[in-house]
Amino acid sequence: MSENSIETLMNEERTFDPPEEMLENSNITAQQYEEACRIADEDPEKFWAERARELLLWKRDFKTALESDPEKNEYKWFAGGRLNASENCLDRHLENGKRNKAALIWQGEPEDEVRVFTYHMLHRKVCRFANVLKKMGVSKGDRVAIYLPMVPELVISMLACARIGAVHSVIFAGFSAVSLQSRIIDCDAKILIAADGVLRGGKTIPLKRNVDEALFECPSVEQVIMVKRTGDEIDFIEGRDTWWQDEMAAPDIEDYCKPESMRSTDPMFILHTSGSTGKPKGIVHSTGGYMTITAHTSQWVFDLKDDDVHWCTADIGWITGHSYTVYGPLALGATTLLFEGVPTYPRPDRYWEIINRYGVNIFYTTPTAIRSLRREGSQWTEKYDLSTLRILGSVGEPINPEVWIWFHEHIGKGKLPLLDTWWQTETGGILISPLPYVGKLKPGSTGHALPGIKTAIVRSDGSEASANEGGHLLITEPWPGMLCTIHNDDARYRRTYFERFPGSYETGDGARIDEDGFHWIMGRLDDVINVSGHRLGTTEIESALIAHPDVTEAAVVGIPHDVKGQSVYAYVTLRSGLDQDDETRTALCNWISEKISPIAVPEAIQFSEGLPKTRSGKIMRRILRSIAVGGTEFGDTSTLSDASVINDLIEGQKVLF
Ligand code: PRX
Repeated sequence: MSENSIETLMNEERTFDPPEEMLENSNITAQQYEEACRIADEDPEKFWAERARELLLWKRDFKTALESDPEKNEYKWFAGGRLNASENCLDRHLENGKRNKAALIWQGEPEDEVRVFTYHMLHRKVCRFANVLKKMGVSKGDRVAIYLPMVPELVISMLACARIGAVHSVIFAGFSAVSLQSRIIDCDAKILIAADGVLRGGKTIPLKRNVDEALFECPSVEQVIMVKRTGDEIDFIEGRDTWWQDEMAAPDIEDYCKPESMRSTDPMFILHTSGSTGKPKGIVHSTGGYMTITAHTSQWVFDLKDDDVHWCTADIGWITGHSYTVYGPLALGATTLLFEGVPTYPRPDRYWEIINRYGVNIFYTTPTAIRSLRREGSQWTEKYDLSTLRILGSVGEPINPEVWIWFHEHIGKGKLPLLDTWWQTETGGILISPLPYVGKLKPGSTGHALPGIKTAIVRSDGSEASANEGGHLLITEPWPGMLCTIHNDDARYRRTYFERFPGSYETGDGARIDEDGFHWIMGRLDDVINVSGHRLGTTEIESALIAHPDVTEAAVVGIPHDVKGQSVYAYVTLRSGLDQDDETRTALCNWISEKISPIAVPEAIQFSEGLPKTRSGKIMRRILRSIAVGGTEFGDTSTLSDASVINDLIEGQKVLF
């Protein structure tokens, strides 16, 4: 049985107590937690209103915590209130003694490349860049696409957009030209901020080519602001492209830019994520709710204090980086660390060396990273004093108990709270997680829903599941930070999240809740696969495969993978007469890398003459999933139009492995 399997999670019985000596100074004690649960149960709106007022600077107070229209699934948080996210992350800290403390520490991939920005310095850069955007004609509500590696300019761009009320749409720099293009078109961006290339694992990866290719068909983009990172030669298109440093140094750019007063319900950013149908969804987050959930969870879950160095290793191209590298830690005035490189370059001790070098207090990472570092051996961790660490976190995919234990033992030295946090792009911030100093930890479980968050596990018919029975994970009450809609597609928003179980938000995840109220996440129930914590739609990959001239049919499923959690397994039918060989496999892998991203490249491609389909033509993925892992039991196959394909597929799988 694979260590990753759900069965290991089902049998986990170990528990760990929180370190008592830390409780005294924690942001929330066991007693305060009980009290918070009571208030949140009795009057959730009051609870959230208090949190929002306590954590954020409101330029105008809101009238009501929540205005909801359940018919339309419209939930407006803190309506009537006005605030600015950039002002909350920067300006207010200038006046409260933090002007000269480090806001952002940037560690480049080369070990000697480090840049530190105090709050004063970051504020100044953000203001200047906000003025650059304004000079280019960007105003409130305009969309700005950002396609940058993990460099400080990424954080500066986001905060500058927030400052002038422009809606940023960050596109992960690992995405291909095609993915970049579809996201830019979807959000109709006016400006694109990009870089010449990316440094990764000692190599440079060109980005500008993707930009030029993508912009062939993006009429909305008027200007491209280029950050110089690798220094590689690029095609510079005069009139459209301009250099970041030239724009920032222009004599008419001032050091101060007044933050735009935004309505709490105004959109703050769009971030695309994969869904179970082909087209990625542009998740829209609004200012007041999003800022509340990120600040709130940073304070309670990570116990974040003023003098902490917070390190979230996720790329900012994903929601985790938005919420816990940028907005959460900066809203609370902490120091956030941004790392450009990968965990294993130049050596597998890179993470531990960084923790030691900067005295990191809170370390938030992914099971995939931990699995790959565990594989390298604990000798790498022993070289460093990691005693500044106070809290560890994990996110994005189920963490198998053995990996949890390794992380806890070797990095947490057997005592630090290790929090397995559950949430999604759509939820804005963490919704289900243990709190560090309250209650027990169970390896592999994401603990309880946070105060004010109501969850349920239901069967397919909507009835409530019993304790320990797996089912659909729902969030049954609205919360601040929930998505407001899918950009330009309200109907899809309602259909995806609210149609099947009316009145609740459907997460798409399967889970169970045990007799102690602990949540155990079992993975996606829809056609979404989670590779190294990255959400990929199977349909998206299938569409790309079918678009290849040699392919007539394709089906993709997720299979367990020891390091990545899941990997992509593709069944491909080629046009007749073509060679079913490794050369074709490589060509198809390169194609996927180009059309989507290297992260979507299949681990295995099985050539098949036919796929198991129902009489109405629907592919039975359940069977394909089972065959891919060497299974032989397929349950009911009576609806198949041609059951003989199964044997051929089983034989094909055996040849592959
Ligand atoms: O399946 C769940 C998984 O990641 C999905 C959300 O992906 P994304 O929107 O990209 O956001 C990732 C980071 C917040 C979820 O539907 N997931 C997230 N956290 C966990 C998890 N699966 C198991 N355990 C977790 N802690």
